[in-house]
Amino acid sequence: MSEIANLKAGLIADIAAADTLDALEALRVGAMGKNGVVTGLLKTLGPMSPEERLEKGPPIQDLRESVTAALAERKAALEQAALDARLASEKIDMTLPADIGPQGSVHPVSQVMDELAEIFADLGFSVATGPEIEDDWHNFTALNIPETHPARAMHDTFYFPGSEDGKKMLLRTHTSPVQIRTMMNGEPPIRIIAPGRVYRSDSDATHTPMFHQIEGLVIDKGITLGHLKWTLETFLKAFFERDDIVLRLRPSYFPFTEPSVEVDVGYTLTNGQRVIGGDGDSPGGGWLEVLGSGMVNRRVIEACGLDPDEWQGFAFGTGVDRLAMLKYGMNDLRAFFDGDLRWLKHYGFSALDVPTLSGGVGA
Ligand code: DAH
Repeated sequence: MSEIANLKAGLIADIAAADTLDALEALRVGAMGKNGVVTGLLKTLGPMSPEERLEKGPPIQDLRESVTAALAERKAALEQAALDARLASEKIDMTLPADIGPQGSVHPVSQVMDELAEIFADLGFSVATGPEIEDDWHNFTALNIPETHPARAMHDTFYFPGSEDGKKMLLRTHTSPVQIRTMMNGEPPIRIIAPGRVYRSDSDATHTPMFHQIEGLVIDKGITLGHLKWTLETFLKAFFERDDIVLRLRPSYFPFTEPSVEVDVGYTLTNGQRVIGGDGDSPGGGWLEVLGSGMVNRRVIEACGLDPDEWQGFAFGTGVDRLAMLKYGMNDLRAFFDGDLRWLKHYGFSALDVPTLSGGVGA
């Protein structure tokens, strides 16, 4: 092999073997730089006679072209490899779960409202709502609490000054006006629950000016106190997640129900703690009032434009905050509304903890 062919084979092998861009650049300078071997050979062509150049020129030109092409090809390959390596090292897999858990927590009141909606949905109840700014008629009069009725004073109502369209406006003192709105806007049969905020001018460890109630209403034909008892027993068993819930129905008075009953559940003392469940009359046990209820008063059914001889029903109402306290062992109602993040961290629920009857409505 001629000297030039040897040189070409050697250079091309070196170029193919260069494994970094720096090594390749060093080879380029050694061959094609100002003092490179190939440049040196090209310079020898200048002083040659035309005949000699015709003979020696082509292999030298071929050497230059081959080395230039090999350099360019190797450079492109090394650059592509560098890019691939960088892409691989900087890759972010967007499908990987983030390593921070969900932030924040669900307030116990919201969680309990979701639990109640889930339990009653299973019994065929839908959720109804009404305005928090109510008028006198829906909050009191239609519920058989006329103007002179002492129950009005008992409610510690926040009234708005003046009146609107001749109506006295107030912050609703209970969720019972949603009963009225539902009966007036829809056709029986009716099965609804109405959870929401209510307001009374009262504040101590067990009362806050704003709190939460849930109202229940069933209107149909041939409804009896037996239906009421079964519904409440089924609800309380599902809510407290115990089969040994014992109810005690005490005669009571509410203007909007006749007869009216207050519902207590039995508790037993376990390690000095009141635990809902069991017979409240057993030694160490007792009763806790959890609900107000009764058969809807004929006058209320009439006020809503329905015939009380055709339609009957039952209603119940209770405090959502109180249910939360009983179920999850909190004892100061005011802490519910302080907005203290430490309290929420402790008592709050994960956003992923959605109550379902199949999975258990409790956390
Ligand atoms: N509205 C009553 C209250 O705020 C609670 C209540 C009692 C609601 C008996 C009812 C019921 O529907 O039947 O104290």
